[in-house]
Amino acid sequence: MDSNDGWFQAYAIRGSIVSVTRFFHPVLASRSLKKGPARVQIAGQKFALWRDGSGRAAAVADACPHRKAPLSQGRVRPDGRLACNYHGWHFDAEGSGCSPSQPELTRCDTAAYQIVEKFGYLWLSERDTPASTFPLTRWHGFDLAGSFSTLFQAPLHVALDNFSEDEHFPFVHFFLGWNEDGLRQLEFKGQNYGDRTEVLYRGPQRASVWLPLLGARSGDLFQNEWVTRFDPVRAVFTFHWFDPKTGVERPLVTRTAVFMVPQTETTTWFHIFIFSKIGSPFYRLLKPLVHATTTLIGSGTCGTTRIGSCTWPTHP
Ligand code: FES
Ligand SMILES: [Fe+2]
Repeated sequence: MDSNDGWFQAYAIRGSIVSVTRFFHPVLASRSLKKGPARVQIAGQKFALWRDGSGRAAAVADACPHRKAPLSQGRVRPDGRLACNYHGWHFDAEGSGCSPSQPELTRCDTAAYQIVEKFGYLWLSERDTPASTFPLTRWHGFDLAGSFSTLFQAPLHVALDNFSEDEHFPFVHFFLGWNEDGLRQLEFKGQNYGDRTEVLYRGPQRASVWLPLLGARSGDLFQNEWVTRFDPVRAVFTFHWFDPKTGVERPLVTRTAVFMVPQTETTTWFHIFIFSKIGSPFYRLLKPLVHATTTLIGSGTCGTTRIGSCTWPTHP
């Protein structure tokens, strides 16, 4: 067990403690789980993922119940069971274990988890987490433009802070939103609710060669509105551009779901899903280009890269 184990395996919610894996978290792009097993980690807790004989993804705790060898270093047997590479105990997707040297042994099961494969990712939760709590939906009129993952060298609360304000836009992002002068013209609304926060910024879009690809123009009003929820921690940002004189909305709206998954006490995985709604036939013809542009812009530099060498308080 290393120093990160067990540091943050629960969230405190309204006075009660619930396991962090009570909620679905995206953990790995589907394409990254091939024939062999893989390790993922949520809040210091390690899991071994693999695909069983039918190609279905499965997950168990990444510590063999026999002598704690990491099952992610094991192998997938021809029958689809995950075998430990120390003494060969092997497990199915329910965590039911078998010892090759003592097949009669009954106490060799391990903890198993639910894996759901959606939006090109593997999502992990406790086995009894209801499917109805799955945290990402396909919004009406929106198409998935792209997705990607990035590991931030910052704890969850610092990463979340970066995704809770837009004052950094002129200094971090190469295109998005306002420049430094525009900062003083921002309209802001923020509201906290029991289960979420809602924020809106609106201000002048800076000039850029990228704007025509998005159906926007220099001088447009750019609006970023988002909702942050905590079960699991994620924020959904919606970007609009408007004609500043008429208030008419430009043809492209993007909606980006950012899942912030604590890996260790000092690192946070971001798994990001970018959707777009294209409201004009002309721009629909350019959909692959518009999707590539929105994904490129969405994957631009983030503020935590500017502060990554700092030392953070880890237990706020
Ligand atoms: S440690 Fe896994 S079988 Fe012994
Ligand atoms: Fe940013």
